[in-house]
Amino acid sequence: MAAATHRAAHQILEQGRIFADPLALRILGEDAETVARTAEERPSSRRMRIFIAARTRFAEDALATAVEKGVRQLVVLGAGLDTYAYRSPLRDRLRIFEVDYPATQAWKRQRLEAAAIPIPGSLTFTPVDFEHQTLAEGLAVAGFDSAQQTFFTWLGVVPYLTEEAVWSTLSFIASLPNGAHVVFDYGDPPASLPEETRLSHQRRATHVAELGEAWLTYFDADDLRSKLIALGFSEVEDLGPPQIAARYFPKRVSSVPDKGGHILRAAKI
Ligand SMILES: C[S@@+](CC[C@H](N)C(=O)[O-])C[C@H]1O[C@@H](n2cnc3c(N)ncnc32)[C@H](O)[C@@H]1O
Repeated sequence: MAAATHRAAHQILEQGRIFADPLALRILGEDAETVARTAEERPSSRRMRIFIAARTRFAEDALATAVEKGVRQLVVLGAGLDTYAYRSPLRDRLRIFEVDYPATQAWKRQRLEAAAIPIPGSLTFTPVDFEHQTLAEGLAVAGFDSAQQTFFTWLGVVPYLTEEAVWSTLSFIASLPNGAHVVFDYGDPPASLPEETRLSHQRRATHVAELGEAWLTYFDADDLRSKLIALGFSEVEDLGPPQIAARYFPKRVSSVPDKGGHILRAAKI
């Protein structure tokens, strides 16, 4: 709900300049004025809103490139209220699996129905709890074709999982016989953040923990890259805060810290 609210607020407050999503507001079921007012009352939420817009844009641009090169299968891991399957012009060229925690997925289906957003025939809902079931098991039941080169988006999920669950999923992706692409976001370890960023991170970490969804996993960028290469990924593109700013909001690069949230694309083809 929080990520979807940020995407909706971005449509209104920044006119969707980084990431345009015509369904962002509709799937939330809130009016534009309330969403904009609530976001403006918390100016500190801007950084997270822009990060979420940038990570989604990065993932969808990389996916569009992969589709041009022939990828026909997409897995949206921890889909939440992601709307790609319901609005993308590329959706008819893809078989799409939305994987999510069963309770979250049931709630999303209610939201889609309430917003009268049609479910495309190309989409299969795939309930999986990453901590208690393997992705391979969940996808096999849903009819996933492991022989097809596949694109995985995994946005806003890695921090909430144990490191063991993260590597289990990445190992599965790397093991697909005909290639795979994955885009996910992660955070630098809190101890490596500059003081001001670390304090605001600590406040948000406490808040999400109180909501029962604590952040458990962080990565050091060099260590993560080495481990991904060891798993067999041949391409690793990792954007930290300065690179994200340079690509998506170049006028503000000077006010961006060196460390914080990263967006990463890895491919094994
Ligand atoms: C912050 S939301 C991000 C949702 C969406 N990808 C987005 O960017 O809006 C985190 C998502 O991870 C899912 N998730 C967290 N832990 C999970 C688990 N153990 N198994 C399956 N999904 C999980 C939640 O259900 C939720 O949809």
